[in-house]
Amino acid sequence: MKIKVGVLFGGKTVEHEISIISAIQAMGYLDRSKYDVIPIYITKNNEFYVGEEVGKIESYTDINTLIKNSQRVIMVRDDNKVNLIKYPQKMFSKGVVDYIDIAFPIVHGTNVEDGTLQGFLKMFNIPYVGCDVLSSAVGMDKYVMKTVLKDNGIPVLDCKCYTAKQYDENEEAIIEEIEKVIGYPLIVKPVNLGSSIGISKAEKRTELYDSLDTAFRYATKVLVETAVQNLKEINCSVLGDYEEAEASECEEPVSSDKILTFAEKYIGDGSAKGAKGAKGGVKSSGSKGMATLKRKIPADITDEQRDTIRDLAVKAFKCLGCGGVSRIDFMMDTATGNIWLNEINTIPGSLSFYLWEPIGVKYSELLDRMISLALKREREGENITYSFDSNVLQGVKLGGGTKGAKGTKA
Ligand SMILES: Nc1ncnc2c1ncn2[C@@H]1O[C@H](COP(=O)(O)OP(=O)(O)O)[C@@H](O)[C@H]1O
Ligand SMILES: [Mg+2]
Repeated sequence: MKIKVGVLFGGKTVEHEISIISAIQAMGYLDRSKYDVIPIYITKNNEFYVGEEVGKIESYTDINTLIKNSQRVIMVRDDNKVNLIKYPQKMFSKGVVDYIDIAFPIVHGTNVEDGTLQGFLKMFNIPYVGCDVLSSAVGMDKYVMKTVLKDNGIPVLDCKCYTAKQYDENEEAIIEEIEKVIGYPLIVKPVNLGSSIGISKAEKRTELYDSLDTAFRYATKVLVETAVQNLKEINCSVLGDYEEAEASECEEPVSSDKILTFAEKYIGDGSAKGAKGAKGGVKSSGSKGMATLKRKIPADITDEQRDTIRDLAVKAFKCLGCGGVSRIDFMMDTATGNIWLNEINTIPGSLSFYLWEPIGVKYSELLDRMISLALKREREGENITYSFDSNVLQGVKLGGGTKGAKGTKA
């Protein structure tokens, strides 16, 4: 029997639209001789919809009509599958619309890629493709991620991290600390966003104030780090899990000399009107999704640099406990040759398929391997004991006035 794969996309995230593109593109490559594919669209209010139109890209030009013509569902676990139940349920109507055996989240950004959707799926005890709750969450917070990587000997830029409250209360001290510890030029970024949103460079104190204000508009936690000079960016995808993983070809996204903008990454005509740093008119191939960003594949680096980056990518993937496919982005100073891991995308745009094709892994095979890894993790999870016999509750007396669980120890 075929495996029913529920592909989840959209959600309450600024990268909602990109996710629709990534997901519909991926569904086109899922091998229909092995899988029945159920597209599940998550609206910006986190409501789930299924139906004929949900899997068609044309439907998303008019989302109100799409929703009107589709069926809202809720998920309910039933034996080894998850049923999709009509919501709201009408009296006397058949509630179950469909079911899924495995979930395939193709979502980008906070509220979905950051462990939130993974946690929701985990509660159903249903296998899901890709990073688990912890690696998704750690991967989304650039500060926490750096801390873990640093502890594992992976080069990352030193940074300072502040909350909005700390900045409000100690503005002058924080500015001084940044100048002393980091120095100019520097980069300020929200810890948990993507697509260059809220990121800017500061060369002097007045710009630092502006950069912090900008970043705090998008997040309550921001980080500040040195701006890499003579920047070359190199991305590498990794496929596998905490035990075994392999690296893809490396790419070099071609940007203007500043920060790659949302428009450069996704809109693809390079005009990027009004967007900071989008000068330079990067041209794209005209199709959509991450695959449109102008890039060099393979990246223009030495064999030795390529080996270093691919090794670091695999090491980082494993030590963060990732699963499925991730894309790991590096920065290099071409004058010194220094390399730092910049960030990890636990559900990369277009699932990084374009980095696997050059080393002989077709998109359908990539998707197959991602699904197999999810099933492997599910099997491993089955061997873990989630309860043990104990008589903890037998001795419990919740007497008035006793605090919490005191006195419950036998
Ligand atoms: N320390 C840095 N030095 C120079 N450029 C940087 C630095 N950090 C980020 N950038 C630029 O900003 C872009 C976006 O930053 P990144 O950390 O990748 O955030 P996002 O999650 O938004 O992609 C990078 O692709 C790079 O062009
Ligand atoms: Mg990035």
